[in-house]
Amino acid sequence: MNTESEYQGRNIVLTGFMGAGKTSLGKAVSKLLQVPFLDTDDLIEKSEGMTISEIFAGKGEQYFRSLETETVRKLAGRGGRFVLSVGGGLPLREENRPLLREAGCVVYLKADIDTLSMRLSKDTKRPVLQQGGGTLEEKITRILAQREPLYLEAADVVIENDHRPFREVAAEIAQLVM
Ligand code: S3P
Repeated sequence: MNTESEYQGRNIVLTGFMGAGKTSLGKAVSKLLQVPFLDTDDLIEKSEGMTISEIFAGKGEQYFRSLETETVRKLAGRGGRFVLSVGGGLPLREENRPLLREAGCVVYLKADIDTLSMRLSKDTKRPVLQQGGGTLEEKITRILAQREPLYLEAADVVIENDHRPFREVAAEIAQLVM
């Protein structure tokens, strides 16, 4: 029996909406695979010496989006193994999607609107959710409707991350590249 995965030996790249669990699962998967965990938001905050909210407020969203492209381009060309979590808006730029694929096996972590609303209800650090009108649930519904086709287009694999034990999801993701 051939049990080798199509993605064996590749890196894992986690995408999905804010609150989908990319960072917490990314850290768990990196431990399972014993490889470093990287996060585009962290890398950007460190290189700019500012938080994401400060970058949005002081330099604007487009500046932040260009930093995302620059960051993912560097990571796509970087050797060595890693698990990468990317900001929820990163797959929206067309040029970023092939770069994600170059960086590794792209997993779209999918969660439903109720789960996302619950996880994001106390959030104050995500400028995208502070903009526009309506309730949090309405904002998530609206933004997710625009983004989901692009998350799907960018993805090699879709994994549901709601109503399932955390460890089970982490193991399923790690298994993809083992
Ligand atoms: C954003 C998601 C955030 C961060 C920024 C913009 C977005 O990352 O990059 O606030 O547009 O969805 P997380 O998905 O890790 O929250």
